Amino acid sequence: MHLPDLEIAKKRNKSDNKYIELKENYEPVLKGKKYFLRTYGCQMNVHDSEAIRNYLEALGLENTSDVNNADVIVLNTCAIRENAKDKVTGFLGKCHYLKKHNPNLKIVIAGCMSEQPDVVNEIMKKHQYIDIVIGTHNLYDLPKLLIEKFQKQVIEVYSESDEVIEGINYTRDSKYTAWVNIMYGCDKFCTYCIVPYTRGKERSRKLESIVDEVIKLKNEGYKEVTLLGQNVNAYGHDIGETFSHLLECVAKTGIERIRFVTSHPWNFTDEMIDVISKYKNVMPYIHLPIQSGSNKILKRMNRRYTKEEYFELFTKMKERIPNVAITTDIIVGFPSETEEDFKDTLEMVKKCEFDGAYTFIFSKREGTPAARMEDHTPMKVKEERLQKLNELVNFYSHASNQKLLGKEVEVLILGESEKDNNKVYGYTDTMKLVNVNGPKSIIGEIVSVKITDAKSFSLDGDYVKEGVLS
Ligand code: 5AD
Ligand code: SF4
Repeated sequence: MHLPDLEIAKKRNKSDNKYIELKENYEPVLKGKKYFLRTYGCQMNVHDSEAIRNYLEALGLENTSDVNNADVIVLNTCAIRENAKDKVTGFLGKCHYLKKHNPNLKIVIAGCMSEQPDVVNEIMKKHQYIDIVIGTHNLYDLPKLLIEKFQKQVIEVYSESDEVIEGINYTRDSKYTAWVNIMYGCDKFCTYCIVPYTRGKERSRKLESIVDEVIKLKNEGYKEVTLLGQNVNAYGHDIGETFSHLLECVAKTGIERIRFVTSHPWNFTDEMIDVISKYKNVMPYIHLPIQSGSNKILKRMNRRYTKEEYFELFTKMKERIPNVAITTDIIVGFPSETEEDFKDTLEMVKKCEFDGAYTFIFSKREGTPAARMEDHTPMKVKEERLQKLNELVNFYSHASNQKLLGKEVEVLILGESEKDNNKVYGYTDTMKLVNVNGPKSIIGEIVSVKITDAKSFSLDGDYVKEGVLS
């Protein structure tokens, strides 16, 4: 089969749309084949998987949730902690088994693991049955690589580019809430973190292109967008823009709900707080990782703030953004963390009374500065710290949820509840998960819900129809 000149297509139009346009040429090879896609890790990966799905479907492949039936398996991997890698390696055992029984099966490793040279070398040596290793920077090469694999051509699997790709198409998971990438990469180099190495340097998308995407989503009926980046509030410094300006422009599109993750305290400006409090469609919810409450550890993490500065910002947000909910990330067991340092972290949790927190034990990532720091704390002690921290964190998230008991809140209903399919589920403006007694017809709507029960991780409620309980 004659292959279209994809390189030329790519140069002419730096978007991936050209690939999709060329799908007639791919179809004879891939049409009707089944793909199985598994996603590990953060929202960035979840959103990248929406792009991967679009690439695969544009080639004529069909989704299957049964890995045993797949002609193509794509694992969109995560590298943030060792256990993320372990999960992928575990699943690769199954893939290897399937490949032995079906040599035509193609196995693709995408995502952050593919951006770690050591891991790529290991894959090339130990897992030679893997067909394609594709990085986070060149996802748009996937259609080309796949078709070449099916045609048994020799291919180059690893390439890197720091281009900002505009106009990517996505097969989105939801019809009501959408991720919108505003930037790629991270320049912060927190000493424990692999992201600057796997996702590259910070690159911002053009403001107009982001706003156009939001307007398009709004016109398609989306109620909510979440602006996505490793460090969203650093948006624009490479192109002479600011996050507060972008947020204001997105707010003015009139889309009903706007969220953004993740924010770094160091880049949070007063102008951002002003925009969040000024526009009703910017949700009063901020994920603001603190990582540690000890100034010594924060310095060794290269977080660029002290606990006092964090608390000052936190207090300003609470004072100036009505009803704001703030959640955080915390790492325990960072190298050299003493019992005193850990107590400082517990102290900060008590002071801030976070609405929720994601907690982690420090995981050594090869190639990061923290991997070379001496670490004498036994794992058992780290686990005990994590458990203590979780108890405290859960206490405050439960308390914050309890404040909503008996209140009516607005909830964007996203689908059937996983726990009980007689119920639906959705999120409050403050990003609290609610399982709702209500008809399926309200899926996709923002409705009033009366809260009837509050747990640490979710709320229960009844749908209120124009002031009357349904
Ligand atoms: N070990 C443990 N937790 C980590 N995180 C990032 N890198 C590591 C690591 N090496 C956590 C941070 C970050 C969240 C996404 O993951 O808390 O905010
Ligand atoms: Fe990692 Fe720090 Fe960048 Fe967040 S800000 S992605 S923790 S380096």
